[in-house]
Amino acid sequence: MEQNVNGHSDLMVVILAAGQGTRMRSKLPKVLHKVAGLSMLGHAMAVADACGSTKLVIVTSPGQNDVRAEAQKRNVDATVVIQHDQFGTAHAVLAARNALEQHSGPVLILYGDTPLVRRETLIEVIGKLKEGDQVVVVGFEAADPTGYGRLLLGPDEKLLEIVEHADASDEQRTVTLCNSGIVALGAGKALSILERIGNDNAKGEFYLTDSVAVARSDGATASVVRAEADDVLGVNSRVQLAEVEEIYQRRQRETVMVSGVTMIAPRTVTLSHDTQIAQDVVIEPNVFFGPGVCVEENVHIRAFSHLEQTHVGAGATIGPYARLRPGTRLGAGTRIGNFVEIKAADIAEGAKVNHLSYVGDATVGANANIGAGTITCNYDGFSKHTTEIGTGAFIGSNSALVAPVKVGDGAYVGSGSVITRNVAAGALAVTRAQQIEKPGWVEKFRTLMKRRKEKAS
Ligand code: UD1
Ligand code: MG
Repeated sequence: MEQNVNGHSDLMVVILAAGQGTRMRSKLPKVLHKVAGLSMLGHAMAVADACGSTKLVIVTSPGQNDVRAEAQKRNVDATVVIQHDQFGTAHAVLAARNALEQHSGPVLILYGDTPLVRRETLIEVIGKLKEGDQVVVVGFEAADPTGYGRLLLGPDEKLLEIVEHADASDEQRTVTLCNSGIVALGAGKALSILERIGNDNAKGEFYLTDSVAVARSDGATASVVRAEADDVLGVNSRVQLAEVEEIYQRRQRETVMVSGVTMIAPRTVTLSHDTQIAQDVVIEPNVFFGPGVCVEENVHIRAFSHLEQTHVGAGATIGPYARLRPGTRLGAGTRIGNFVEIKAADIAEGAKVNHLSYVGDATVGANANIGAGTITCNYDGFSKHTTEIGTGAFIGSNSALVAPVKVGDGAYVGSGSVITRNVAAGALAVTRAQQIEKPGWVEKFRTLMKRRKEKAS
């Protein structure tokens, strides 16, 4: 049989995502709700990929075109199939019949609403298939097993049967080892097993869990891989979505700290699924990382900063209260201070934007100093324009740079200027009115006003 890079035969992963997710109370399909900035479907696809999946099929329900779009955005080779009526989990997997017919390797079935499952668990599942089990199920110890399928084990720890809660006897209901829903079927066996599953049960559904009984009727064995209950939490409501988010965040922060990052108050820091933070970065409380952030070594991110799609060069200092929007690139040693917003801008090494500024659609040269309250006026009501600030330039406080405009290398802009034309390198540009001074004016003014008031009374 063909082996892929991970050393096992071609693996097909089927992600079940046809549920309506009614309890989310959302117009958005459940699997498109996000955990750490990535859809739950995206998480399932990522773990499938990490397990070396060679064929990915997503089962969705009619009309969920946005599920298809998300699947294909994340993996152009993903196949999306539609389960027209929902007759149970085995019926759902059979919606992938065409792909199953062309596939001879093992098949792993994941749920699109169970985003925390670990790669290690699934690798163990695939390993058990290789050892000869025809069905391998991921189980967990449930604090409250109500509603879950119960895993009934033999004395040899092999899996004898899965009984759904609705079909279980009182005695079976005392079993706390439950089915997470994640099931794998041995190479070449999936279709033959699935086709023999019936719907003679309490719900009249085709239960994927009956694959255990079918395989055993062929004389094959089934087994369980145990996962932490947290790893296999399914999301049915926004409350559960928040629980899953919390677990994900806790794990992600731990991974980041273990890799050499200091967090003063980790619970107040929010990461994204793809946040990259290098060694010896210090993160103060209440910092939010949206997707696409990469932070190089020795950066200090001060409290209440918000970053998304941003690259931060080594040794930079950010915040407190900085907002770094998509397309921000900060060079090494830059300083971005409080109440500064940067968008689609390249700030070269050593440049400073320390207070109360907006820099958008701009390039700022190395070691330039952008004074307090500087605004790049990048929008004229119709389109966006760029501002270029040269190396070592100095922009005085409270200046407006009306784009498109360039300030040359080493140029100075006087405070309070509105710059509408390019400034040459090394020049000073000032646009404010000149200061005038009238010596002794105040005394004369007071005397005049006093007299007027006396006359009037
Ligand atoms: C299922 C398992 C149960 C397990 C539990 C874990 C079966 C028969 N039961 O029960 O043993 O403990 O999950 O949460 O498999 N789906 C479809 N099409 C369908 C039916 C379901 O795509 O026709 C999808 C759902 O969107 C969902 C998943 O499959 O993501 C599970 O379906 P659900 O109805 O929640 O199954 P449970 O009754 O919870
Ligand atoms: Mg369920």
